[in-house]
Amino acid sequence: MNQDEARHDAARAGRFSVRVLRHADPADFDLLLDLRARVLRPGQPKQRSHFPGDDAPGAVHLGAFVGERLVGIATVTEENGLRLRGMAVEDDARCRGVGAALVHRVCAVAIERNAPLWCNARAAAVGFYEKLGWVVEGEQFDMPDIGPHFRMRWRPA
Ligand SMILES: CC(C)(COP(=O)(O)OP(=O)(O)OC[C@H]1O[C@@H](n2cnc3c(N)ncnc32)[C@H](O)[C@@H]1OP(=O)(O)O)[C@@H](O)C(=O)NCCC(=O)NCCS
Repeated sequence: MNQDEARHDAARAGRFSVRVLRHADPADFDLLLDLRARVLRPGQPKQRSHFPGDDAPGAVHLGAFVGERLVGIATVTEENGLRLRGMAVEDDARCRGVGAALVHRVCAVAIERNAPLWCNARAAAVGFYEKLGWVVEGEQFDMPDIGPHFRMRWRPA
């Protein structure tokens, strides 16, 4: 079985599932903030992982679960169309299709709302997004305390 088949097999076998996280539910949102802080802002206060737009009515927070454990997250906020933010998968859950499954759900939101979709991607994650049909727009730029980024947009096939 190749890597792609293994990933589809993992999802089919129910080894992870994706659902909407309820922002209004403190338990759900707290779990999301914990994962964001741990993976994307290690060593920084958890409140720095609370993004503008998180609380807006048009925001969608998605979580991937293995059993009851949250292993991956992604958020869509309304900003110049739709913006993907806070894409993160726990270290020990990577390379199993969790990130791709979350991005597919985010793209489905863009299709549903007929809105353009973009993100600021860490340079190290550009290849991940490219595999999922995203393209780089513009020059590399630096985000303080995080590192080099590229603006990317999703280009539906
Ligand atoms: C980037 C990240 C979300 C990927 O999640 P993941 O669950 O491991 O990704 P998947 O298993 O769904 O990978 C999908 C495809 O992208 C590839 N891929 C994954 N991470 C990649 C990377 N950093 N660079 C290039 N390709 C990558 C996989 O090999 C796979 O390719 P395949 O379809 O040819 O097998 C995860 O590594 C992560 O959370 N990294 C740290 C935080 C981060 O950088 N987030 C993005 C902020 S913009």
